[in-house]
Amino acid sequence: MEKTLVVILTLLTASGILTQKDMDGKVFLMPRETSTSYVRLYPMRNGPIANLTVCLKCHTELARTYSLFSLATANKYNDFLMFHYTNRFSIYVGNQQLFFNIPSTAELRSICVSWGSLSGEVVLWINGNPYPRKIIMKGYRVNSNPIIIIGQEQDSYGGGFDAAQSFVGEISDLHMWDRVLSSQDLMDVLYNSNMSGNVINWQNLTYETKGEVLVLPQLCKLNYKPDCCNIPT
Ligand SMILES: *[C@@H]1O[C@H](CO)[C@@H](O)[C@H](O)[C@H]1NC(C)=O
Ligand SMILES: *[C@@H]1O[C@H](CO)[C@@H](O)[C@H](O)[C@H]1NC(C)=O
Ligand SMILES: *[C@@H]1O[C@H](CO)[C@@H](O)[C@H](O)[C@H]1NC(C)=O
Repeated sequence: MEKTLVVILTLLTASGILTQKDMDGKVFLMPRETSTSYVRLYPMRNGPIANLTVCLKCHTELARTYSLFSLATANKYNDFLMFHYTNRFSIYVGNQQLFFNIPSTAELRSICVSWGSLSGEVVLWINGNPYPRKIIMKGYRVNSNPIIIIGQEQDSYGGGFDAAQSFVGEISDLHMWDRVLSSQDLMDVLYNSNMSGNVINWQNLTYETKGEVLVLPQLCKLNYKPDCCNIPT
């Protein structure tokens, strides 16, 4: 399971350190509530995007609102956003918002969201459980040149952060595709961990951290099965 780093490409930029590496078995830990700590993820494709799927695992004890995945474009700061309210989960596409009622718990969660422009269908899976599907922004395309940030929610293109919406906890296994994954594909993502995103690939992640963000080994639930980090179990 533990893979060695495939590539370490480190470029010094004016603002931070751009890193490219295999994050398999690793998490980003955002240990504190701030408006300054976050990770910017650099996508391998720049859009526009007519179909998408994002999967990630998150672990937090937050009982307030927080952003999980913030994709802003030049004119739409919530062009695609995964946002958590207490007992509600919200998806934005093209600044339009919809809600799913979900139980609030502190367990490790695997979350996958897909949206397809043709039907406008949004599918939310939490720990492998699908929620009733909803429709939003039929015919729309998420704009080109996104800025993708985890840890903070963008209220401008690449900024406008609010500590009260920051993420505190661990995020891992984040992949993004420019298509709607089938249930069978999602089985492979969740149980076999052998599907990599073609827009964002956790196994070949190009990212930049700002403020206090740590890269740590994933902690698994202690049980007798060696491959315990695959959830749901
Ligand atoms: C990793 O990502 C970089 C930059 O996006 C890309 O050029 C490279 O081909 C990728 N490597 C693999 C093994 O996919
Ligand atoms: C998006 O998905 C639909 C339905 O699967 C497909 O017909 C369409 O060609 C896709 N669009 C793009 C740009 O991939
Ligand atoms: C992932 O693993 C499963 C089970 O071993 C296999 O059926 C599937 O074809 C694999 N998918 C990919 C994309 O490698």
